Amino acid sequence: MLSRRETLFTALKAACGISVGAASPLGTLLTGAAAAETPARPPREWTVPFGAALRDGPLANEADYRAAVARHCAQAVGEGGLKWFDLRPARDRFVFDQPDKQLEFARANGLELRGHTLVWAEVMPDWTRTISQGEAEAELIRHIETVMSRYRGKIRSWDVVNEPIANDPASRTHLRPSIWQQRLGEGHIALALRTAARTDPQARLIINEYDIEFVGDRFRRKREAFLRLIRDLKLRNVPLHGIGLQGHLRADLPVDRDALSAFVAEMRSLDLEVLVTELDVVDDKLPAATDLRDMMVAAKAYEYLDAIQAAARPSAVLSWGITDKYTWVPMYFKRSDGLPNRPLPLDEAYRPKPLMRVLEHFCGARR
Ligand code: XIL
Repeated sequence: MLSRRETLFTALKAACGISVGAASPLGTLLTGAAAAETPARPPREWTVPFGAALRDGPLANEADYRAAVARHCAQAVGEGGLKWFDLRPARDRFVFDQPDKQLEFARANGLELRGHTLVWAEVMPDWTRTISQGEAEAELIRHIETVMSRYRGKIRSWDVVNEPIANDPASRTHLRPSIWQQRLGEGHIALALRTAARTDPQARLIINEYDIEFVGDRFRRKREAFLRLIRDLKLRNVPLHGIGLQGHLRADLPVDRDALSAFVAEMRSLDLEVLVTELDVVDDKLPAATDLRDMMVAAKAYEYLDAIQAAARPSAVLSWGITDKYTWVPMYFKRSDGLPNRPLPLDEAYRPKPLMRVLEHFCGARR
């Protein structure tokens, strides 16, 4: 008769192809043996800073939510607030209420707040479609100068450009058709980075991307297009300090360990820091049973973080939310059985899950 643990490990192997020896580091993490000890050090003091995306509703209205973020995080990033849709209701308006509140919470709790994001194809207000080719450069510069100068010295790391690569790139120069790409071409990226560097010379300037980590032709093409862009920017001495790997992991897709490690190693060889900026594990294809599902989510994150750390230690790891109670995942990956997704480090009652133990393993240990 298989023990429950052996049953879970067998299921893990079958579903994810991940072999877990009971005494292996992952096996120890997943069986909860590690949970018995209080964290080696409080998450706030982990070697690799951990953080989470903040959602404004619970941030304003739920003490449990604020307490969980303050307890577990050393960094934070607005899930919204600094996106054009939130910030720019009209061409002549900037509304800073949300990011100001996020910053106030972060500073009151000793957290570093990341800025997300200045240039993106998504969630652009309708009025931006009226920006002409002749106006685009001035509008982009004005936006970056106005926003970054307000938070100069307070927000020290910015996703200046988010998701520049086409979702399914047909070539290494195939970028997403943002309004900026349409009006200014690829030069908009260097323009944004140069404007950001001029506005806040101390800020760390990051380009953030998703779907860099999996096995498969589309992911390989996306990695290659991203590498081409990064190499080109570095060759032209465009100011760029790091790369954000969003880390929206699909639990049903194998991580391309060698390719991901090689990508991270090349970023480091280009003197670029690597951050994991939006970690969550999309569990829509996983079994319903929460203990098995939580283990599989943790195992996928382990696979991913192990591949990154085989090449270099990330300068931060942030999850795209702290609790399953507030996650964007069902927006695109709703489960067919109608059960709530469980993609994040804490469950809906703010209890740590195996994923939090995996984060402690990679971020908390003193190296
Ligand atoms: C998502 C938010 O989580 C949603 O609430 C919002 O409606 C759309 O944007 N990659 C990114 C994030 O860089 O900004 C996205 O966040 C998720 C995908």
